[in-house]
Amino acid sequence: MNKLIAPSILAADFGNLQRDIEMVNNSEADWFHIDIMDGVFVPNISFGMPVLKAISAHAKKTVDVHLMIVDPDRYIQTFADLGANVLTVHYEACTHLHRTVQAIKAAGMKAGVALNPHTPIAVLEDIIADLDLVCIMSVNPGFGGQSFIENTYKKVSQLKHLIEFSESNAQIEIDGGVTDQNANALIEAGADVLVAGSFVFKSNNPPETIKNLKQIINS
Ligand code: DX5
Ligand code: ZN
Repeated sequence: MNKLIAPSILAADFGNLQRDIEMVNNSEADWFHIDIMDGVFVPNISFGMPVLKAISAHAKKTVDVHLMIVDPDRYIQTFADLGANVLTVHYEACTHLHRTVQAIKAAGMKAGVALNPHTPIAVLEDIIADLDLVCIMSVNPGFGGQSFIENTYKKVSQLKHLIEFSESNAQIEIDGGVTDQNANALIEAGADVLVAGSFVFKSNNPPETIKNLKQIINS
């Protein structure tokens, strides 16, 4: 199956947001990855509803929203209305994860769950069959531009086994520190979607960087 690249808009130039969105539209990228941070679940605040609304208005590809916020249940319908196609909540932020996942689906979106680097794959055993996506954090969430945590490979293989064993359709997404150096190994381990922020937007030629990543992961 075609493996996907999701540029993270967190690393875009917010003074030229429409330009950067059009760059992604016209590139070989598959999804827009949108990081929402509340300054409580993670030690950083990114952007909120008005900015997401502006992004959605121009985005011509799947809008993949990664919520790094406490109590995400409060905003599920709002994110659906703002144009999210995939909505990912953090396992660590949801007391009633099953209910949250059902609510995301009932609002017409694909449901994702993200795991912090220290959270074991095993916690997903009883929810995996209901998930459309699992996001394995390969950095501690909160900031772009951090170094990839090597333990991620082991988690990807474990998750791949769990998905196969459970006959789940969940896609495996990797978020944080993705570059041309680890992309191939992540796909080999079982990943389906690679989020890339700094590596794409801080490069000299972002569309070319996306093209190269796509080539690496689909060859
Ligand atoms: C981190 C975010 C990531 C981030 C990735 O909390 O969830 O999506 O934007 O950025 P890079 O690719 O620069 O690590
Ligand atoms: Zn993210």
